[in-house]
Amino acid sequence: MQRQAAPNIQATIPDKPYQIGKITVVPTSPVIGAEIRGVDISQDLSAETAFAITQVWHTHLVLLFRGQDLTPEQHIAFSAYFGTPQSPNRTSFTPMTEKYPEIIEVMNVDMDQKRIEYSLSNAEAFWHTDMSYKSIPPLGSALYSREVPPSGGNTCVSNMYLAYEDMPEAFLEEIMDKSAVHDASRNSAGRLRPGFEDEQDPSKTPGPHHPLVRIHPETGRKALFLGRRPYSYIPGLSVEDSEDLLDRLWAHATQDKYAWCHQWDVGDLLLWDNRCAMHRRDPFDIKHRRVMHRTQIAGNRPY
Ligand code: OGA
Ligand code: MN
Repeated sequence: MQRQAAPNIQATIPDKPYQIGKITVVPTSPVIGAEIRGVDISQDLSAETAFAITQVWHTHLVLLFRGQDLTPEQHIAFSAYFGTPQSPNRTSFTPMTEKYPEIIEVMNVDMDQKRIEYSLSNAEAFWHTDMSYKSIPPLGSALYSREVPPSGGNTCVSNMYLAYEDMPEAFLEEIMDKSAVHDASRNSAGRLRPGFEDEQDPSKTPGPHHPLVRIHPETGRKALFLGRRPYSYIPGLSVEDSEDLLDRLWAHATQDKYAWCHQWDVGDLLLWDNRCAMHRRDPFDIKHRRVMHRTQIAGNRPY
């Protein structure tokens, strides 16, 4: 099978700060993430700046913008530099999401300031890709923090190009040309979506089939594309073999060496590329408020 040689991580991803025009790029780790300084993303961007940000995004997969003061309109307008903001399937509505269908509120408090258990609430959110239960998942999401707890609730991201390139040849052979079913019946918190049965047999999981290795349409690079672990299934295998292969694949892909974690301040915006990065969240104390706004940007059918 043709693939890139095992990467020299230090050589392929810059790990020292650098400058592009007025933008300063400060890598947050040698494997993934860069902070962009010198841009107020609430304002219109020049074509030059938008292009530079997109190039840096492709290099580092996840961008961090600190100290931003955004209205929902500005958050959506910034997202639109990278594609078309998309509204998700909703199981709950708030006045905010009724007014701005492109925004999801990821939070643990409701409008009456009571602690809530829907949305992602305060639990740990295991490694995943956003909305891969759709046949055309978003290309990325922009998560903006409005209120954060004093500790916990960090968001981690990991580089799925590296996870792919780092796979031993024999392991790659095992997954070559295989796809997985991405569960459409449950949300990230594991709750059933309306209209779905609680099907426990993974070989009967409803949802789209996506290739385990996808090609990023902009960079041309291959990345592991796993979605979420629960109720995933590899068609063509027995449930036992599928579970075994998926367990090994997830153990490989979720190693710390591909990841970096962000500790939030209010006003941070994290833009991740959903095609080549996964993300997860640490739990936090439910007695503290955590309110985030997320946009998602329409993508392509994975191939
Ligand atoms: C999300 C998500 C993690 C977080 O919004 O898609 O996974 O840190 N959020 O809230
Ligand atoms: Mn997510």
